[in-house]
Amino acid sequence: MQEKILILDFGSQFTQLIARRVRELNIYCEIHPFNNFPEVDSTVKGIILSGSPYSVRQADAPQFDFARHHRTLPILGVCYGAQYIAHYNAGEVSPSSTREYGRANLQYIADGNPLFKEIPQHSQVWMSHADTIQNVPADFEIIASTDSVRVAAYHIKDTQTFGIQFHPEVTHSIDGKQLLQNFLVDICGCAQDWTPDSFIETTIASLKDKLGDDKVVLGLSGGVDSSVAAVLLHHAIGKNLYCIFVDNGLLRKDEFESVLESYKHMGLNVKGVDAKQRFYDALEGLSDPEKKRKAIGRVFIEVFDDEAHQVQDVKWLGQGTIYPDVIESVSVKGPSATIKSHHNVGGLPDFMKLKVVEPLNTLFKDEVRKVGKALGIDANILGRHPFPGPGLAIRILGEVTPEKVRILQEADAIYINNLRSAGVYDKVWQAGTIFLPVQSVGVMGDERTYENVVALRAVESVDGMTADWCHLPYDLLAKISNEIINNVKGINRVVYDISSKPPATIEWE
Ligand code: XMP
Repeated sequence: MQEKILILDFGSQFTQLIARRVRELNIYCEIHPFNNFPEVDSTVKGIILSGSPYSVRQADAPQFDFARHHRTLPILGVCYGAQYIAHYNAGEVSPSSTREYGRANLQYIADGNPLFKEIPQHSQVWMSHADTIQNVPADFEIIASTDSVRVAAYHIKDTQTFGIQFHPEVTHSIDGKQLLQNFLVDICGCAQDWTPDSFIETTIASLKDKLGDDKVVLGLSGGVDSSVAAVLLHHAIGKNLYCIFVDNGLLRKDEFESVLESYKHMGLNVKGVDAKQRFYDALEGLSDPEKKRKAIGRVFIEVFDDEAHQVQDVKWLGQGTIYPDVIESVSVKGPSATIKSHHNVGGLPDFMKLKVVEPLNTLFKDEVRKVGKALGIDANILGRHPFPGPGLAIRILGEVTPEKVRILQEADAIYINNLRSAGVYDKVWQAGTIFLPVQSVGVMGDERTYENVVALRAVESVDGMTADWCHLPYDLLAKISNEIINNVKGINRVVYDISSKPPATIEWE
């Protein structure tokens, strides 16, 4: 059985980051809400308690049955987690009188404590708390202090319970990774054997077990997640996986053909469905972005449902859902706010009544890429920029027509090919071309023109939540602009988008 670390989420914005750091050490971990976590069985090697926007002094502060797990498993409390354990054991936690936010240095580190193995005196840490632990009970040993925080870290004597008031998961805590490694490897005894290869092996075995001879349908999008999910399922059940790749007429130039070809090379049982006209018909006359999105979503469901019906006796729907989509973040308003609404199952298309299998639902995006690489998936598919589901429809402002799609595809292909040949494609998080609903005057030869404008967008980002525009070299922008205007009939002006998110967004619609 896969050994793991449980991270109990008390609502901190850093909880996911703790999980990332644990996994970077090749140790599998799961995040669960503090008030709803699975039975702690023998696969659990240790528990980390996260931070929280709450104060332990509040009447409705999140609780954890500390006594139940203390002395049975190693426990590391981080920030609120540390304060909670101190408070629970009758220590004193009160609002801090001095600023305890930002960088600080551990002026004192106890000799020989396993949590601080190989961490030098004065190590820089990052603090972020309004409360502070003033006093700890007699059986707590203070094992690190800063100038202003006496109880920066403690250890409950003769146990494997530790608390730290700084955040080891942020990079400003220079030795944070070492501290986590000390806790996870030396104290919890984790084996550090959770690698892409081990993930692939155990996932394929469990998919075989779960699916047996059942049939699965899966919609491919050309993106990383659905491709990796498909290849894993293919390794497990081979031809019983039926992939459907829909051409909605809103993909990049030649993308449908080339991606379909790559899928076939990978040995996938994939059916390409040309549904361009159905999408164009549904989009006719629509210029409101939300109406366009809804129309595309609706037609996709219709097309997919038709295709799924062609597969006899299908029992499962495969999906490329990844971990950030499934982590139930703790609502600071309490558990009732996280209860999900129930769908009216009767009104759903047939394929949605299938059982769902999601082989990637424990992985973060970069882990999906690593697994994809270990599976031998084409770098071209793994490294591609994110592309929105509604595709070029939300990059054509206003009404979408096949002619506008064609013009945009040509301009966009020139843009993307130039990013690739200049060696900057992989440095850009996402790039695309936008067809603007304005025409402007130009001259070509002796002729006056009155044609369309396209905008180029390129952003740097980590997760799409915030983004900065890329400072592409002027020479490259000049070359792209020339090539577009000289080669794409219908465009006589190119502009570059220099807005960051926020306040702008990445897409224009
Ligand atoms: P925004 O424009 O909100 O985009 O800054 C953030 C990220 O989300 C993508 N995006 C979408 N993806 N369906 C999708 O599948 C959509 O309707 C959609 N809208 C935006 C966008 O490409 C960027 O990566």
